[in-house]
Amino acid sequence: MTSFLSHRLFILYLNIFTTLLASSSAIFWENIFDTTMKRMAKTSHLHFYYHDIPSGKNPTAVKIISGNELSFGATYMIDDALTEGPDHSSKLVGRAQGMYSIASQHDISLLMIVNFVFTDGKYNGSSLSMIGSNHVSENVREMPIIGGSGLFRLAKGFALAHTIWFDQTNRNDTAEYNVTVKHF
Ligand SMILES: *[C@@H]1O[C@H](CO)[C@@H](O)[C@H](O)[C@H]1NC(C)=O
Ligand SMILES: *[C@@H]1O[C@H](CO)[C@@H](O)[C@H](O)[C@H]1NC(C)=O
Ligand SMILES: *[C@@H]1O[C@H](CO)[C@@H](O)[C@H](O)[C@H]1NC(C)=O
Repeated sequence: MTSFLSHRLFILYLNIFTTLLASSSAIFWENIFDTTMKRMAKTSHLHFYYHDIPSGKNPTAVKIISGNELSFGATYMIDDALTEGPDHSSKLVGRAQGMYSIASQHDISLLMIVNFVFTDGKYNGSSLSMIGSNHVSENVREMPIIGGSGLFRLAKGFALAHTIWFDQTNRNDTAEYNVTVKHF
């Protein structure tokens, strides 16, 4: 009796399993194996600090569009240093190249269009592209990573940013970034 039951249960499980597998196997395999790249998916975590310097002798953020009297639309082109540690003089690991605009009329929310171009270690020559809404007054902001190049081909993921330093007078700031990406 017990063995008969467990046998029936086994068949039932097998049926459920094969049905699930058949219906989701295409999606399932696409998510773990890329047929073009012939590679298995992996997940990488990156941690770095982003330094935005809009003022001084050598600014890394330059205003290219003024925006209206409330600064709505103001747009900056950036070539910001990415470093390993929180200090501006810590080891350079890449640059954040792109732009951000003040995209909200009611608070300070930025449209970020940024390529993280890595120049150090195994990621040297690889890049990640981020497009997202950066509500700067929030403690931690999440922005989507929509693609990548080099080691990060077919990347998808998200970035978490947290401002660790902001100078009210000159608007220099440093943000900590944790980036999680799935790539092949
Ligand atoms: C910040 O801003 C000041 C003045 O605008 C500038 O001279 C300084 O070099 C900047 N950089 C850092 C890392 O504070
Ligand atoms: C990164 O790669 C470039 C081009 O291959 C090379 O010139 C440079 O020295 C590398 N940088 C580091 C820090 O390895
Ligand atoms: C990034 O990850 C580190 C280590 O887990 C954590 O201490 C830090 O708070 C994280 N920062 C953000 C902005 O997610």
